[in-house]
Amino acid sequence: MKLLDKHAFFEKNSIFLLIGILIVISIGGLVEIVPLFYLENTIEKVEGMRPYTPLELAGRNIYVREGCYNCHSQMIRATRDEVERYGHYSLAAESMYDHPFQWGSKRNGPDLARVGNKYSDEWHREHMIKPSSVVPETIMPGYPFLAKANLKYSQIDMDLKVNQMIGVPYSDEQVENAIADLKAQLDEDSDDYDAFIERYPTAQVRDFDGNPAKISELDALIAYLQMLGTLVDFSLYNESENNR
Ligand code: HEC
Repeated sequence: MKLLDKHAFFEKNSIFLLIGILIVISIGGLVEIVPLFYLENTIEKVEGMRPYTPLELAGRNIYVREGCYNCHSQMIRATRDEVERYGHYSLAAESMYDHPFQWGSKRNGPDLARVGNKYSDEWHREHMIKPSSVVPETIMPGYPFLAKANLKYSQIDMDLKVNQMIGVPYSDEQVENAIADLKAQLDEDSDDYDAFIERYPTAQVRDFDGNPAKISELDALIAYLQMLGTLVDFSLYNESENNR
């Protein structure tokens, strides 16, 4: 009762109530935020994460340019319905090389964090050109021009370089060979294939848009989509969870 009487003071003096609220919230905020500046690494290291290949990075640029994030998130929440629908919830490490991140805040369409290897390249081709040809009830707009547009990749090395500057661990060798690597990912028979696979061991290599004669924006976008969520091998992690 006594404590409540003291509280009456705050209830009767709104300025003091306001000051009181600010003090309490500041303490709570500091307790949550300050440790993040002192921890060695706030993102847990996860096996399998690697910087994006030049082709994937170019595809990601198209994803951002076209505003796919306006309808799609890339962030599976740790709730049962999401995990059952999309797979393992997203880990912070899985977007550690995203600048800017593509978590998104709107889902007119499904989450894409683990869309990689869910469909064939042909499916993606049809879907990007005319979504209703594979999903009749869809409201997603078509992007038919991507298959026709030549991918502009002459400065992709600069893109890697900028990512390197802001902390993505690209080696100088990866930056220097960016253009050759971009082409090598589209052709298993190319002379640069071995060097490319050595630099990006888990990369998928093939012609993604079904037209080997051309390096299109669709090549890059599908390469990016097919990689999403496939880098971390979750069977390793699920096992350790079961053993607990
Ligand atoms: C106006 C909202 C909207 C925009 C913009 C949009 N999409 Fe979609 N997308 C949807 C909807 C709705 C679906 C679900 C129906 C379907 O598959 O078409 C979908 C489905 C998808 C799927 C299949 C996902 C799955 O798991 O079945 C992919 C891949 C996809 N979109 C990629 C993209 C890409 C890449 C872009 C940008 C170039 C984009 N979308 C832009 C609304 C959108």
